[in-house]
Amino acid sequence: MTRFATVFTAGALCLATFAAAHTGVKNPAVVARMDAMKATQDGVKVLGAMVKGERSFDATAARAAAAEIAAEAARTPDLFKAQETDPNSEALPVIWEDFADFTAKSKDLERVALALSASLETEDQLRAGLGQIGAACKACHEVYRE
Ligand code: HEC
Repeated sequence: MTRFATVFTAGALCLATFAAAHTGVKNPAVVARMDAMKATQDGVKVLGAMVKGERSFDATAARAAAAEIAAEAARTPDLFKAQETDPNSEALPVIWEDFADFTAKSKDLERVALALSASLETEDQLRAGLGQIGAACKACHEVYRE
């Protein structure tokens, strides 16, 4: 019995780690903004795979991924406007103390992603653009995400 309980607990812990913070979030507003961040990350993964050579360079696909990132960034302020919380959220309350700055950081990401989606033709541009996008994600996460 004790052994069963131990195995069971270990299994449950593994599952919890595997499923990440996202699961267990009950507040639909928080789920919506997390889903949007996931979609943003999917776009970054496409660009990253090309830069790392895991996927062959394709300017059309890269421009589409950059456009997707820009579209998600454009939605970010609306998705975060209301101060919604959830025990599993990583959003820091300072977001709503300086929402103008949070919005500006969303706009920064939107601007660099949009520029890339409009002009990308070479792998060098992709590499530089991905660097700028990554810096824009980081600039916001550093201040506003746990
Ligand atoms: C303007 C601020 C801002 C920008 C820009 C931003 N994020 Fe986020 N991101 C957040 C916040 C705040 C959270 C935490 C949300 C929560 O847990 O409620 C988050 C969470 C996430 C998550 C976790 C989602 C989940 O399911 O828990 C991922 C992945 C993510 N961001 C990726 C990115 C990527 C990739 C970029 C850049 C392309 C980016 N973010 C740009 C603010 C931002």
